[in-house]
Amino acid sequence: MIIIGGSASEGLAKETANLGDFDLARREIKRFPDGECYVRLETPVKGKNVAIIQNAFPDNNIMELFLLQDAARRAGAAHITIVVPYLGYARQDKLFNEGEAISAVMLSNMLTLYADRLITMDIHENSTLDSVHVPAGNISAMPEIGRFMKQFRPGLVVSPDKGAMDLAKLVSGVLGCPWDYLEKTRIDGETVVVKPKSMDAADRTVVIVDDIIATGGTIIRATEHLKAQGASKVYAACTHGLFTSNALPRLRAALDGVFSTNTIPGDAARISAAQPIADVLEVL
Ligand code: R5P
Repeated sequence: MIIIGGSASEGLAKETANLGDFDLARREIKRFPDGECYVRLETPVKGKNVAIIQNAFPDNNIMELFLLQDAARRAGAAHITIVVPYLGYARQDKLFNEGEAISAVMLSNMLTLYADRLITMDIHENSTLDSVHVPAGNISAMPEIGRFMKQFRPGLVVSPDKGAMDLAKLVSGVLGCPWDYLEKTRIDGETVVVKPKSMDAADRTVVIVDDIIATGGTIIRATEHLKAQGASKVYAACTHGLFTSNALPRLRAALDGVFSTNTIPGDAARISAAQPIADVLEVL
């Protein structure tokens, strides 16, 4: 299989290619002076199975992903898998108010217009993939997060809301410690409220896990709750570290450590997401 790395996921694509029987394609990607994207595959892909690894975030990377698919198709690729480690727009996964678009479903359908398969990683809501017209599946970086967090010897894994409970279960399975969840209500993009709940956090090191950290509001509210209940240390780990609104320094001031995978490169991206991607591509 030939792996093509988009510019948003270049490092991850290289790492993935090194983990299995893959070739990493040479490609040219550049922007014209007006900002429009240009791509060209230099490695021949005729008759080959290819996997394009590229985040669908922010918007300009979505266009690049379309162009890479078109280039692969025109160059005669036999089968095109797109691996979208971070699927942007995934949090608008239903109609919250009349008149809205459902961006998660719209984008995942649009992305696969020229692809034969879609693979996402810790997508915000699994059912988003139900309406995709090609085979689509989601893989998780939570086992990698669990293995990384072992060094801190957590005694409790916490999901900051019901939506991340399955992620907390996966991490607690790797760590061999219990898990629990909080209930969160989102007031707006920057404000969340966590419902009071008694938890077995006293004198324990706790790790909060989530799919995404954006403004950090969710993690900070959950941390306040856990510290108020006597947690000795609180760490947070997520798959997709967006860290908007200067979130990382604020989180680091409030917690004992904050980590993400490298689906989105950055200062906190200490956990590699390459192995689960290599594992799934290996068996295609
Ligand atoms: C939403 O439910 C997600 O799973 C995350 O909890 C959310 O995106 C985190 O956002 P923020 O960091 O802005 O609170």
